[in-house]
Amino acid sequence: MCGIVGYKGKRQVKNILLEGLKALEYRGYDSSGIAFKNDKEIQVIKSVGKISNLEEKLEKEKLIKCDMGIAHTRWATHGGPNEVNAHPHTSGKVTLVHNGIIENAHELKERLIEDGVEFKSETDTEVACALINSYYDNDMVKAINKACKDIVGSYAFAIMVEGDDKIYGVRKDSPLILGVGEDDLFLASDIAAIIDYTDKYILLDELEIVEISSDGYAITKNGRSVDKKVLTADLSSEARDKCGYDHFMLKEIMEEPVVLKKTLDPYIEDLDKLIDVSKYEEIHIVACGSAYYAGMIGKSLLEEKAGIRVVCDVASEYRYKKIIYDRKTLVILISQSGETADTIAAMRKAKEEKIDTLAIVNVKGSTIARESDMQVFIEAGPEIAVATTKAYILQVAIISLMAYKAAIKKGLEKDKNILKDFDILPRMLKEVLDRREEYLEIANEIYNKEDIFFIGRKIDYSICMEGSLKLKEVSYIHSEAYQAGELKHGTISLIEDDMPVFGILTDKDVREKTISNIEEVKSRGAKIIVITNEACNKYDLEVVVPKISDYCQAVLVVPVLQLIAYEVAKTRGCDIDKPKNLAKSVTVE
Ligand code: AGP
Ligand code: GLU
Repeated sequence: MCGIVGYKGKRQVKNILLEGLKALEYRGYDSSGIAFKNDKEIQVIKSVGKISNLEEKLEKEKLIKCDMGIAHTRWATHGGPNEVNAHPHTSGKVTLVHNGIIENAHELKERLIEDGVEFKSETDTEVACALINSYYDNDMVKAINKACKDIVGSYAFAIMVEGDDKIYGVRKDSPLILGVGEDDLFLASDIAAIIDYTDKYILLDELEIVEISSDGYAITKNGRSVDKKVLTADLSSEARDKCGYDHFMLKEIMEEPVVLKKTLDPYIEDLDKLIDVSKYEEIHIVACGSAYYAGMIGKSLLEEKAGIRVVCDVASEYRYKKIIYDRKTLVILISQSGETADTIAAMRKAKEEKIDTLAIVNVKGSTIARESDMQVFIEAGPEIAVATTKAYILQVAIISLMAYKAAIKKGLEKDKNILKDFDILPRMLKEVLDRREEYLEIANEIYNKEDIFFIGRKIDYSICMEGSLKLKEVSYIHSEAYQAGELKHGTISLIEDDMPVFGILTDKDVREKTISNIEEVKSRGAKIIVITNEACNKYDLEVVVPKISDYCQAVLVVPVLQLIAYEVAKTRGCDIDKPKNLAKSVTVE
């Protein structure tokens, strides 16, 4: 997703804005731009592609002397990734950058064209810029408030205007923070962009407008001053360094045992500290991508172990569906970033119906963390690689522990030793991660394939979903995860000679059934790779992970698939930490 950086102060504006954009690169983008402003003019420079292209352009330009500027990395939603559509956009006196989607951009644009406004780009952002300019009458806060009343959609804006030495910021649904330096001020999409200059920041809430000037800052909402707490970020420089690893993805996989222990220990010491979901008759688990696949594992365990009816849905569907709630429903939102637009919308839908919401979230201070009724934080620390690994593992571990606690509370789980499994899980995971040579051997067998299948049943199918996504995301190989029993309903026609098929075999109740399905594809030429907790000793490639309770088993299997995906992507020379077209936090619909 796009990144916004703004700066007002005495330091080198260009470097601060550029370094800020680079720190946000992991969020995903396709073009970028910068606007510098002094009391005479606003200079705008934009480029397509990597930020290094913008950097080269800046080297060639004669830059104006200035003490303020705004910058942007764009993830195109309206209009292709080209220089004209790149931000910042200017209309009349106003120049701005934007993260989000203006849903009624077409209607607003028609109205503005009737008023004589001419447009250069295809973007919704330029429409917002022209709208603010149309309302601007030497009072920018008033113009922003008027424009926000007309705009339908999501936005974080950083705005400058001719004849005014301030920078303005406002947000709705897309994140925006105010960075408070010793004697300078910043705007940013997230703290990573400015942590080298300050760890003090203020989270702007919905429709709060910040004015940044040489004398300081002021925050208002609907014209009234708002007092905000200055927070201190916990983003250490270590978190933003690869620490000797070739990629953040590998570093973050290898961190899993440590962050797993940090996350689980408080609850292993005192399970009463973990939220008890056993009182709910129905639970809706709502998330996107990998977080959704973590939710699928939670669904299996909450139903099978705790006897609670669970609906697990992707947020982009859930938010538009007719949902039948009853008063004993709990909606669990799972989100690493806490800023995923669809998951935020699903949370707000539940809250409108006065339904309890519980967030399993990594980023403290994120929108989902702040607006949900209850939170269980995972302690993954900052996750820089776009493809989630450690955060996903912690999501699975936490929701599995919640299922265990609910099963105990309902008297359905008698085995008190299971908590010991959670306790030894980090050490066992470390041993699994140390067997990288085995996973590299598998990667070397499949890295040049075009299609790869993953099959499994029940939780093993949920594991397949995440394993397949990881491989697709970072290696760009087409892959599909299938319920093992579904293959014969059509998919098996796709199996070709030597086509890799991963068989995930950890659920003892359906083990033999899945082995039959593996035999079906093997007899049609597939290259079988089995990941199991009980050796089969009859397939081309096999990884045996330690057997542990159902609540914990997935945490030992998925990292094997993460490392295989990593090694395949590395062999293929892919941009592992920043896969093409992907964003770390999808803050638009
Ligand atoms: C995971 O590798 C992907 N980057 C993506 O599926 C991600 O899990 C999804 O966008 C949800 O993000 P969130 O956990 O921050 O809400
Ligand atoms: N919707 C805007 C555009 O397409 C902003 C996209 C973004 O968040 O980067 O330019």
